[in-house]
Amino acid sequence: PRSIWISRHGESQYNIEGKIGGDADLSPRGQMYAHQLPDIVKQSVGDGRKLTVWTSTLKRTIQTARYLTFEKLEWKALDELDSGVCDGLTYGEIEERYPDDFKARDEDKYNYRYLGGESYRDVVIRLEPIIMELERSENILIVTHQAILRCIYAYFMDVPQERSPWMEVPLHTLIKLTPRAYNTQEERFKADI
Ligand code: F6P
Repeated sequence: PRSIWISRHGESQYNIEGKIGGDADLSPRGQMYAHQLPDIVKQSVGDGRKLTVWTSTLKRTIQTARYLTFEKLEWKALDELDSGVCDGLTYGEIEERYPDDFKARDEDKYNYRYLGGESYRDVVIRLEPIIMELERSENILIVTHQAILRCIYAYFMDVPQERSPWMEVPLHTLIKLTPRAYNTQEERFKADI
């Protein structure tokens, strides 16, 4: 059966600092994940099969895929949810500077749109072409960001998109999804970092 492999990028410098958005480099731990990824992929995919790797246009996903020898494609539509004026801030700073927005997001995280940015609902719409392309492709490995991965994951796991903002998608873990007639089978491969 057809499978899809998905992973978040390795830990970034911004992840360490608790800042959202941006275009930071990988942290030393994130770089370890990048180094381990070819082996983890080999474990999950087997030796012979060639994948195509889709990343976003942001450095942390490109750096995570760096040591994979497969063909690669960068998609702007896979960039992280645009946090607008809050880009580069910590959640604490957002709460301080935009208290009403902070509260509004907590109350309706799926529909809340950052000032000058996006909501999860917006992301689901911009992912439509990606999902369509995925549905007619084989052997794709996607390396992308937390919010984006939540929406793709929810789609394949048949979870209502309204719940995607709260889905758990850990760092440093390769997820293999195999859609079947009535459900999608999931396997996780965690890096040893
Ligand atoms: O913190 C990493 C990150 O990918 C941010 O860049 C992004 O804004 C956030 O996660 C998305 O998660 P949430 O919607 O839970 O804030």
